[in-house]
Amino acid sequence: MTQRKILITSALPYANGPIHLGHMLEYIQTDIWSRFQKARGHQCYYVCADDAHGTPIMLKAQQLGITPEQMIAQTSQEHQADFAEFLIGFDNYHSTHSEENRQFASDIYTKLDKGGYIKRKTISQLFDPEKQMFLPDRFVKGDCPKCGALDQNGDSCDSCGATYSPTELKNPRSVVSGATPVLKDSEHYFFDLPAFEQMLKDWTRSGSLQDEMANKLQEWFTEGLQQWDISRDAPYFGFEIPGAPGKFFYVWLDAPIGYLASFKNYCDKTGVNFDQFWQKDSDAEIYHFIGKDIIYFHSLFWPAMLDGAGYRKPTSVYAHGFVTVNGAKMSKSRGTFIKARTYLEHLNPEYLRYYFASKLTSNITDLDLNLEDFAQKVNADLVGKVVNIASRCASFISKKFDGKLTADIAEPALLAEFTAAGETIAESFEKREFARAIREIMALADKANQYIDAKAPWVLAKNEATLTEAHLVCSMGINLFRVLMHYLKPVLPAMAKEVELFLNDELSWSTYQTALTNHSINVFKPLMQRVEMTKVEAMVEGSKENLQPTAAVAPKTAETKAAPAVDSAENAIEPIGETINIDDFAKLDLRVARIINAEHVEGADKLVKLQLDLGNEQRQVFAGIKSAYQPEQLIGRLTVMVANLAPRKMRFGMSEGMVMAAGPGGSDIFLLTPDDGATPGMRVK
Ligand code: MSP
Ligand code: ZN
Repeated sequence: MTQRKILITSALPYANGPIHLGHMLEYIQTDIWSRFQKARGHQCYYVCADDAHGTPIMLKAQQLGITPEQMIAQTSQEHQADFAEFLIGFDNYHSTHSEENRQFASDIYTKLDKGGYIKRKTISQLFDPEKQMFLPDRFVKGDCPKCGALDQNGDSCDSCGATYSPTELKNPRSVVSGATPVLKDSEHYFFDLPAFEQMLKDWTRSGSLQDEMANKLQEWFTEGLQQWDISRDAPYFGFEIPGAPGKFFYVWLDAPIGYLASFKNYCDKTGVNFDQFWQKDSDAEIYHFIGKDIIYFHSLFWPAMLDGAGYRKPTSVYAHGFVTVNGAKMSKSRGTFIKARTYLEHLNPEYLRYYFASKLTSNITDLDLNLEDFAQKVNADLVGKVVNIASRCASFISKKFDGKLTADIAEPALLAEFTAAGETIAESFEKREFARAIREIMALADKANQYIDAKAPWVLAKNEATLTEAHLVCSMGINLFRVLMHYLKPVLPAMAKEVELFLNDELSWSTYQTALTNHSINVFKPLMQRVEMTKVEAMVEGSKENLQPTAAVAPKTAETKAAPAVDSAENAIEPIGETINIDDFAKLDLRVARIINAEHVEGADKLVKLQLDLGNEQRQVFAGIKSAYQPEQLIGRLTVMVANLAPRKMRFGMSEGMVMAAGPGGSDIFLLTPDDGATPGMRVK
């Protein structure tokens, strides 16, 4: 086999939030592939970095009262600690806010400009007069220009689905200050993407792109490629554009350049030849692993930028789907928005590595982390099948034969079947069909257990006459186990290390064909504990506690991303509205009320019918909180109601007031509940 030169990257996580299990799918997928390539003996490097620039990062640091540099330094440490514990084996982890990245970004931009690929154009944009800054789409809110729905994002309406430009919003407000934005002109720099259309079409056809991605690209070509706005005006946390004071590179310009910067940083430390990988005629392979939400950036802008600046293009871009938990979008209120850190406080990282591997394919479909299935599969496969093989064979060899395996292999044909599977399993890993590889490995594990069941070495061991046979069977079992652990090593590197200690052997993809004979092994220690559902539940509970919304007023993601896949509470924080005077406030009669009954409302999918006790009277109120609460859960609780709201006739009956709740909607609605001790009827002041 010829040795390949391979550079692998995962997308660079934003430096303003913690790593969660959705992210982990990507880093686990990439890490397994990278470990596999290394085990096969290729010259392979896996690099990543934090994505440290952009408006959300700038604003979040401001809110925390620290500099962006301080914030990204702290986040980088947290990210790297999470990755290390999940056994993500980066060769280098860097930052887009680095000297290397500044140089590459300037250099690539300058080359693109010289090539005539940078256009200048004055555009008019919403500007926050209070904060003295231009507002990205997601930092403007207002009423939908199409249907009038209140309080919609600057780019699209959740209510009618319309997309529009933020300048079309009615009653626009700055999410940052609450001020009414004004239109202001500014010169922007654009990257001439349409100039690369033919090159991109050729690349799409020649590369090994996933079908789904090729189709997506085809759609984008049909829609027509557009000039891409790559500049942002100060204040902005990023790199200033050479020769353009006060103008900065948009975060997505220098983010993928971060792949080059991290690799360069690595090459400078180790002496690896950077140009061999990135120069135009390079024979090295370069792969970017990404989520499906950022395909546009990686399959259009990035190859075009590289091409325009004289670099080679990636060999391929591999996109994966999104993680859902228990069949739904990750949700903070359900406790399924699980941070990497919270997971690590409760569970072994290799459980998740195995579970994701057992479900990953090469396509872009979403992947459900069903927590019951997770526990069940890890227990059945890893504990019940794989580890079981070794634990059934090891102690006998240690006790009766001083830890020494037999000189002969009892069933050469069976062992040959196990080793012969190596190439098909390797092919599955190579093609990123991890689920198929795991199925193949588990089918062999079943065979090994059947062999041991049939031979029943524990019976043979009881009789002097069959002791040798028992020794042969157990040695055979250990050899079968050893082959399987070779295959599982990219998925379970920590367990494989334990197995190496136990077997006195090093597992690599070049050693599984030769069996261990006449070889001393060490005392067997349990390799993996069962997943306990109580710990899974504790993790979900712990994730609910994390709910406290941060003080962030800014959306969490960079400004151009499609709607994030989590209904994160940060996205829901609204700016403070217009001020009222004390007399306005005094008009509100807020009272503590006890919910004495709560029922479903026939024919209404959002409403719950509440019977409220106010001490000396009762009220009937319809509340739109069904997406977050089952009526039964509500009975007996205290809440706060607006008691002097004029009664309103609804389709289902009279509503005599309103209860108070916070949150953006969906499952994230939180009923305000006074502490016990408050009595119904008390005035809230
Ligand atoms: N900073 C950009 C990437 C720049 S790459 C030059 C970004 N960051 S991110 O933190 O939002 O996401 C990092 C990666 O995690 C992306 O590939 C994204 O698709 C992936 N995922 C984020 N949430 C995810 C799920 N819920 N499920 C699967 N992958 C997810 O995008
Ligand atoms: Zn609308």
